Amino acid sequence: MRLPGGNGALWLSIAVGLSALGMAVHTVTEFGYSGLLDPRTGMVPFVTVQASLLVLWWIRPSARSGASLALLATALLQLIGGAVLSILPLPFLPFAPDQTVSHYLSHIVLGITQIPLIVIPWLQHTEGRQASRIRSSRVVLRDVTDNDLPIFFDHESDPAANYMAAFTRTDPSDRDAFDAHWTRVRADPTILIQTILFDGHVAGSVLSYQEGGRPEVSYWIGREYWGKGIATRALSEFLRLQTTRPIYARVAKDNLPSIRVLEKCGFRTIGKERGLANARGAEIEELLLELRADEGASR
Ligand SMILES: CC(C)(COP(=O)(O)OP(=O)(O)OC[C@H]1O[C@@H](n2cnc3c(N)ncnc32)[C@H](O)[C@@H]1OP(=O)(O)O)[C@@H](O)C(=O)NCCC(=O)NCCS
Repeated sequence: MRLPGGNGALWLSIAVGLSALGMAVHTVTEFGYSGLLDPRTGMVPFVTVQASLLVLWWIRPSARSGASLALLATALLQLIGGAVLSILPLPFLPFAPDQTVSHYLSHIVLGITQIPLIVIPWLQHTEGRQASRIRSSRVVLRDVTDNDLPIFFDHESDPAANYMAAFTRTDPSDRDAFDAHWTRVRADPTILIQTILFDGHVAGSVLSYQEGGRPEVSYWIGREYWGKGIATRALSEFLRLQTTRPIYARVAKDNLPSIRVLEKCGFRTIGKERGLANARGAEIEELLLELRADEGASR
């Protein structure tokens, strides 16, 4: 599960704010407004610790994981110790909690407002672990083998991927046409084509070909591998093999992930054209992007 919008800083700040608000509501209900600044209520030390951890999270990216887990711990402490245990008539408590409705309500508010500060750091932690697992997974390029072709066929006959790419073969489900196309492509000395391996599995292909006397690049990633940074890493790796510059790419104007991949590899939009998109059955706008000699791949 990912945080909506991926804006970790904003969500974490909101969660810290809510946690402090819950503590304030509880403190005021129990001790009145004077309790907010009374060190015996624990409000000031708690908020100070949480604010310091949040500042640390903002200013020291390397400390983010530790700071957000420490924030999670403060919220857990408030939830279990402050909201739940301290309202129960437990024999070991040094005081007898008020068993009144307003006291219960203030503890419910305290408990509920701690939950985002438990969930958000936890999501950030699991997202971070996933991202570092993906980063440490290797993207490798190698020559195409016959065994790759059935996998490419699966990728390239996916209707959603075809809609996205837009400028595709007339009938992507025609295996004979696919085979004939790939036989031509592999025999053409002006085409450089590589299989993309992700953790040893065939994830897609990347190629360069001549269009109107100019080199262009294209790529296709199997749907199960999308969103892992594979196209970006494969294209930047490919651009170390295919060193002709300038080099170009065409992309449907609404294929935002592909535009992003190209931009991350240093391509810049230099024009727009209209062309017949087989997968859309209509003429649509496409962007022409260029990678100049002085622009490098960013990854
Ligand atoms: C386009 C395609 C190659 C992307 O592959 P991928 O491995 O998922 O791409 P990456 O993960 O390297 O990068 C995708 C980028 O697009 C971004 N992105 C995804 N959806 C987006 C959207 N709707 N709007 C804007 N950006 C988007 C991602 O966030 C990521 O950028 P980031 O790293 O800055 O966060 C893949 O979807 C594909 O093969 N599609 C079908 C064939 C095709 O369209 N080929 C390209 C023909 S030009």
